[in-house]
Amino acid sequence: MKKVGIVGLGNMGYPIYKSILSEFDIRCYDPYSKRTDIQFESDLSKLDTDCEILIICVKPDKVSEILKQLKSPKKIISIAAGKSLKELKEFSPPGSYIVRIMPNLPLQIKEGCMGYIGDKEIYPDVQVIFQKLGLLIELSNETAIDAFTGLAGSGPAYVFSFIQALAEGGVKSGLSYSDSLKISIQTVKGSVLLLEEELKSRDAHPMELRNKVTSAGGTTIFGLDKLEENNFNYSVMNAVFAAFKRAEELRIGNIR
Ligand SMILES: NC(=O)c1ccc[n+]([C@@H]2O[C@H](COP(=O)([O-])OP(=O)(O)OC[C@H]3O[C@@H](n4cnc5c(N)ncnc54)[C@H](OP(=O)(O)O)[C@@H]3O)[C@@H](O)[C@H]2O)c1
Repeated sequence: MKKVGIVGLGNMGYPIYKSILSEFDIRCYDPYSKRTDIQFESDLSKLDTDCEILIICVKPDKVSEILKQLKSPKKIISIAAGKSLKELKEFSPPGSYIVRIMPNLPLQIKEGCMGYIGDKEIYPDVQVIFQKLGLLIELSNETAIDAFTGLAGSGPAYVFSFIQALAEGGVKSGLSYSDSLKISIQTVKGSVLLLEEELKSRDAHPMELRNKVTSAGGTTIFGLDKLEENNFNYSVMNAVFAAFKRAEELRIGNIR
């Protein structure tokens, strides 16, 4: 069994730990965690000596201090937003292989979307570790990981906002909030699953499905008309683009 170290067992590190528990010999380090279902090492040096692969799951401002403490070269996988490969390499022991991977929150239920880039030597390990946690996409350069961050990393926040807005529309129309929220979640879930199903058999397009619920002079076209009046497409498209530019700014400018 390969030995894998995980540093930081929070929102992201913990589900990663749980999903690879049976396949790897894992060492965990997080002096601040209150979890009682993990046997933590008291010292990072234990992971440094024992582990061939290290997954860094701490907040970005803590990454460099962790890497600086390592002595032996290893395969390092960082999930930290905005920490460039160049910076990760600079602080890692010489001879280490580095991969950056950007996950998103639904990784917690194995429905994440993860994009990665870095040293190809460790791609097979990255694939084994992360493919069970959702959709895994190999990216071609670091600008693509910034774009991925704007879309998939920040995306769940846009979707949650959309669901909340749908629910508030239901409330405005006289439904209770609890019914509205349930209806909104199921509507989004059902639509996503239907689109996914259609894509399995052919090159379906979201607009095709949209047309199926939009009859002439019916209710939906009146709703869509309101969305367009308020620049829905433009707003969403540019939310993704703004988040992409911010990710790029954080990586290049290293602003925190
Ligand atoms: N959450 C997301 O949606 C998301 C998406 C994409 C990427 N990421 C990236 O994932 C990384 C982790 O995010 P998260 O949300 O999982 O953070 P988190 O829940 O705060 O987890 C980080 C854990 O590491 C601990 N820690 C702090 N300093 C440490 C140290 N020196 N050594 C070992 N452990 C230490 C933290 O303790 P304390 O809480 O006491 O500090 C915490 O338990 C970040 O770099 C973030 O950019 C997160």
